[in-house]
Amino acid sequence: MSEALALNAVTKRFGGFAALEDVDFRIRRGEVHALLGENGAGKSTLMNVACGLYAPDEGTLAFDGAPVALSGTREAVDRGVGMVHQHFKLVPAFSVLDNIKLFNPGRPTAEIAEQARTFATRMGFELDLNARAGALPVAEQQRLEILKVLVAGAKIVILDEPTAVLAPQEGLALMELIRSLADDGAAVVLVTHKLHEALNHSDRITVLRQGRVIAETTPERMDPARLTTLIVGEQIVEQPQPSETIGERLLWMNNVELPGTAGRKGLTGLDFEVRAGEIYGFAGVAGNGQSELADVLSGLAAPTGGTVWYDGHNITRNDARQRRRDGFAVIPVDRYRYGLASRIGVADNFAVSGVLAGRYGSWLRVDRARARADAKTAIGDFDVQGVRSMGQRAGLLSGGNAQKLVIAREFQGETRVVLAHSPSRGLDVRAGAAVHDRLREARDAGAAVILISEDLDEILLLSDRIGVLSDGRLAGEFTAPVTRAEIGEAMVSHGDH
Ligand SMILES: Nc1ncnc2c1ncn2[C@@H]1O[C@H](COP(=O)(O)OP(=O)(O)O)[C@@H](O)[C@H]1O
Ligand SMILES: [Mg+2]
Repeated sequence: MSEALALNAVTKRFGGFAALEDVDFRIRRGEVHALLGENGAGKSTLMNVACGLYAPDEGTLAFDGAPVALSGTREAVDRGVGMVHQHFKLVPAFSVLDNIKLFNPGRPTAEIAEQARTFATRMGFELDLNARAGALPVAEQQRLEILKVLVAGAKIVILDEPTAVLAPQEGLALMELIRSLADDGAAVVLVTHKLHEALNHSDRITVLRQGRVIAETTPERMDPARLTTLIVGEQIVEQPQPSETIGERLLWMNNVELPGTAGRKGLTGLDFEVRAGEIYGFAGVAGNGQSELADVLSGLAAPTGGTVWYDGHNITRNDARQRRRDGFAVIPVDRYRYGLASRIGVADNFAVSGVLAGRYGSWLRVDRARARADAKTAIGDFDVQGVRSMGQRAGLLSGGNAQKLVIAREFQGETRVVLAHSPSRGLDVRAGAAVHDRLREARDAGAAVILISEDLDEILLLSDRIGVLSDGRLAGEFTAPVTRAEIGEAMVSHGDH
């Protein structure tokens, strides 16, 4: 297969820090090339060099074997590079068509619309060109991002952690789409830290660790254990660790109802209780009340029926701020949307929940020095990497480190109830295991932990008890240890009536 783009001996520094050192990376036509590495390994930086966003400090780029010094992203687009960034770059208020036009300036609208429809059909989905981009579900926004670069003539398609924001079944559909692009002759780069995506859906694998290429290999020569060892430099295998002391019930719900949005059913009479020192996992297919449950628990939405109890008090109407004062810690599913403000600094992000909980004085006179000092300590304790100053924008942190920052912040003060919604989604193996450790530690210190996750492996690994959520209520309840099959059966059998 011919080489569409080669990066030769690329080094890229930020200040004195080398994010990439002497990296070789080749992208071939007709191939899906998986780029693997832990959070912060340099994957996005390398791809930002490939798409002309960053100029390398050392090293060269060659298109079809000819050296080229890219002047910027526009030139890269002209040379056929299409980059779909980790955080989408759509204009939410614009229509689908206008977003595609914006990326393809100076071309007739009719031609663009026609091409967009053709690609959509070939990729096997329906496309409403007039829909507002911001109103589309995440998976469709992502398809739009891909479509946008294809219409611009991309022959080298780079997807930066495309499945981090997708549910498992959406991820699978995307893998099929990527394969069809390669079959059509495109050179595809799949940036990921999920082993199975690289092993099952790529032709070639490059592993980055701390800015250096550790291996270039193929799926045939790898298995999960070997690949993990390459990625993290050691083997990480998590084992279930059941709770040793389960106490009194701490949080419970009676017949809670909350209508869903976006065509989902919501909660339709949910009953459950979580005890101190227990991890209660909610398993289930996405869209069966998970988001609504998270909103009710975190105090973002008040239920339309039923009651929520905490330590003997009716807290149904309490808002998020009161919940924090009661010792609730919330790890939301979308950490950029609800967890962190990407434009403000690390220390200020950190201070937010402390201010809400009344730890740093009043709103008008926040004790910033103390918040900063606490932030510094917690960032060390929780091993948040990539923080070079307390004022650095949170948006510059890699996904795993952003998640660790949210957790460090949420676990300040006394934690009595933890809500964790897909806490390891988008994290690499090591960061995911670290998050799981924190949840177990909170439990072992006597907190009631509620875990909502579509990742059944995560549920089975962590939970002391498991409730299967279906159509907005419990379709079954199990005490660990329990098998995948038993839970799977409860998910399915309930759906029949
Ligand atoms: N614009 C930037 N300024 C300073 N540091 C950066 C910038 N972009 C990335 N980094 C740092 O470079 C390292 C690699 O980051 P990145 O390429 O985003 O990793 P990955 O995509 O593999 O998670 C990290 O330590 C990150 O904090
Ligand atoms: Mg990245």
